[in-house]
Amino acid sequence: MFGTSQAGLVSMEHMPKSFILEKSVTAVILRGLKEMEIKKVAVIGAGAMGTGIAYVCATKGYNVFLRDLNEDLVKRGMGKIREMIATGVNRGKLTPKEAEEIMKRIKSTTDAAEAVREADLVIEAVFEDMDLKKKVFKELDELCPSHTILASNTSVLSITEMGSTTKRPDKVVGMHFFNPAYAMKLVEVISGKQTSEDTRKIANDFTISLEKEPVQVKDTPGFIVNRILGAALGEAIYLLEEGVASAKDIDKAVVLGLNWPMGPIALADFVGLDVVYHSGKSVADALGDDYLRKRSQPSKLLEEKVKAGHLGVKTRKGFYEY
Ligand code: 3HC
Repeated sequence: MFGTSQAGLVSMEHMPKSFILEKSVTAVILRGLKEMEIKKVAVIGAGAMGTGIAYVCATKGYNVFLRDLNEDLVKRGMGKIREMIATGVNRGKLTPKEAEEIMKRIKSTTDAAEAVREADLVIEAVFEDMDLKKKVFKELDELCPSHTILASNTSVLSITEMGSTTKRPDKVVGMHFFNPAYAMKLVEVISGKQTSEDTRKIANDFTISLEKEPVQVKDTPGFIVNRILGAALGEAIYLLEEGVASAKDIDKAVVLGLNWPMGPIALADFVGLDVVYHSGKSVADALGDDYLRKRSQPSKLLEEKVKAGHLGVKTRKGFYEY
């Protein structure tokens, strides 16, 4: 959202040059989409993210198999997708004919083998639990054709560790979508230690084919967004706990003072407090005491910039050049 009117943080005039360049590179890649290798996608897990991802993939022309453990979960997931399609039509994003075609492109099953038998890409979106994810990846590795790329939609967990349970760690990659998937433009593409460059590129190009914007991230707890979001939501909840302000005023302050589309307390509710708790704890546990101690003071990098007189827009040089 950096530099967009939605965020309103900086005007175009003050946009760093590097950001503008990246947007035009993205446009060039978009024109080369005919070379896409992915045709069939399987999504494992029919919760909020799994259904959102399945919907986005189907709207961009991919055949999708949605899989969950039992009929109830699958039925509920397909119900959510039908609702998204109906809303898409009501909002003028889809024509009734497109809606019909999208629905035909999505199949569902409780049978993992059936879901992934012909998949070129599998996107796992099950509960954020490493043992569960490892079990799923091991099973996927056994069931999928040898060319299939295995992606995880994890928000915080290690792609390298998931890959290690398979015989194809080079074909395991992170593709972290954001909620609601139909509206959020970002996908974090995460390379584990053994993810091959080919796999990263396929995940990257696939993201672009969904008309989403990829960013490339190393395999570190929380990646980019949840490192930042965890800190921001965590601080907002501490403010509430300390009685500094009401939930409403914390949200109002951030919406009006930082131009966020919704305040951090409302966003925590929206994401799910269990998700916020577990992802915050998982990042803090994984990064350890050194991480927490360092965060109590400004970083060395910032100190160096200030000492060098590189103060940002006002000196035409900060982290970017202006
Ligand atoms: N199909 C296609 N498009 C649809 C749609 C559908 N089913 N339903 C809505 N849309 C479109 C709308 O038409 C609108 O498009 P437009 O911008 O072109 O007009 C857009 O999607 C947004 O529509 P909403 O009705 O949802 O609009 P709101 O203005 O109420 O926005 C919001 C809601 C998008 C949730 C906004 O408040 C927001 O951006 N909040 C922040 C969300 C956020 O931060 N998400 C990230 C959470 S963190 C996460 O997911 C990571 C995880 O790992 C924890």
